Amino acid sequence: GPRRRIASVLALTPPQDAVVVKGWLRTIRKSKQITFLNVNDGSNLSGIQVVVGDDLPNVDEVRHLSTGSAVAVTGSLVASMAKGQEVELRATKVEVLGAAASDYPLQKKRHGFEFLRTVAHLRNRSNTFGAVFRVRSVLAHAIHCFFQDRGFAYVHTPIITASDTEGAGELFRVTTLDLDQPPRTEQGAVDYSQDFFGKPAFLTVSGQLNGEAFALGMSDIYTFGPTFRAENSHTTRHASEFWMIEPEMAFCDLADDCDLAEAFVRHLLTTVLEKCPEDMAFFDQRINKGIIARLRDVAEANFERMTYTEAIERLTASGESFEFPVFFGADLQAEHERCLTERIVGRPVFVTDYPKEIKAFYMRRNDDGRTVAAMDLLVPTVGELIGGSQREERYDVLAQTITEAGLPTEAYWWYLDTRRYGTAPHAGFGLGFERMLMYTTGMQNIRDVVPFPRTPNSCDF
Ligand code: 4AD
Ligand code: MG
Repeated sequence: GPRRRIASVLALTPPQDAVVVKGWLRTIRKSKQITFLNVNDGSNLSGIQVVVGDDLPNVDEVRHLSTGSAVAVTGSLVASMAKGQEVELRATKVEVLGAAASDYPLQKKRHGFEFLRTVAHLRNRSNTFGAVFRVRSVLAHAIHCFFQDRGFAYVHTPIITASDTEGAGELFRVTTLDLDQPPRTEQGAVDYSQDFFGKPAFLTVSGQLNGEAFALGMSDIYTFGPTFRAENSHTTRHASEFWMIEPEMAFCDLADDCDLAEAFVRHLLTTVLEKCPEDMAFFDQRINKGIIARLRDVAEANFERMTYTEAIERLTASGESFEFPVFFGADLQAEHERCLTERIVGRPVFVTDYPKEIKAFYMRRNDDGRTVAAMDLLVPTVGELIGGSQREERYDVLAQTITEAGLPTEAYWWYLDTRRYGTAPHAGFGLGFERMLMYTTGMQNIRDVVPFPRTPNSCDF
């Protein structure tokens, strides 16, 4: 029969007859004559209270239901006397669509996130994860709206690629080889250069290089897709598979790039605060106290900008002692990022113009000869949210940096081509979607903002 999403039923003005909702039983409370069910269909946090009287024909069946069962309820929507809800559903019919076995893992007591990761196929039925994945969906939509409203074209960059965008060698191989009888080099090693029907192939670490080719023709583009990193990092902010948003703009420099990144992040925060008030209130109360007020402040004020050189000076001047030493040329570690954003600046900060040795080959060399036109956006608690740069658009310089990075120039022939046929200044960045979700919800582990996380020790489900 017709069914309505519980979120929209809760917005109706009571009384209403013959309302049908379908969902999963979260709790069941029995008194002598009445049974209270909380039914949730994932459309909101609270679900709906269903009141079952003892005159219901199958009242015994209903009273024996265990949490997790799927039910269809028909009833009248009436104003509720109970605290914390405006309306409730007086059932005239409860149909059991699928009973849950008695070992259903999500019983009423609160579970730790670690345990819930072991039941990733069911955890979306809990309050926290329902809220996380609703916010994830709203954020994804907001990302498309932001760029589409500004005339950016959405480009689907390939998942299987031949070139290593970051030049860091953290690639997953894709292979069509028969590994029982692989082709071998003259030295006898397996010849992986034959991977993909005779050519090397990997899962993409970033759509950027393909994105650049499209920006140098379509001016403003963005990608939004999965990316893969074979780094063996066991941290709370690295995943083997994560989603990245990568805009790329022709005729733009590093300052324009920071402007776009700032407008983008502020737009996403504003949108989620506006569209997900119930879920955000939940995070504010249960996950990260005061997060709503803090994010609202961030959405309203300008971000800080400073050069890497200045960041090093201020970290040194802070007098804090760090595990990793701070000096010009050092990569910023999580502890440095936190010190900068949380204690020195107190809000998001763009750090620009890093030493060329610690950044990727495609970043534009500055005139000082030692830094590149790079930017990272660092935010409190999460650290690096965005990495971006103005790109090296000069053919000779780019060919040189590819060689210096020890990368195979042949694999980048088409990328170099874009610098031979109408090259132009351009810039872009990558925002890690899961990091943005961690920042927005206050969830502290990347494994808890991905539906089915892939990390070095987890590829179940
Ligand atoms: O700094 P990264 O490696 O930059 C790039 O990939 C560029 N090609 C982007 C560009 O300029 N178009 O990655 C960009 C962002 C990081 O700032 C971080 O938020 C996220 O992607 N990220 C990860 N998120 C989760 N797990 C990982 N292993 C990540 N590695 C990077
Ligand atoms: Mg980076």
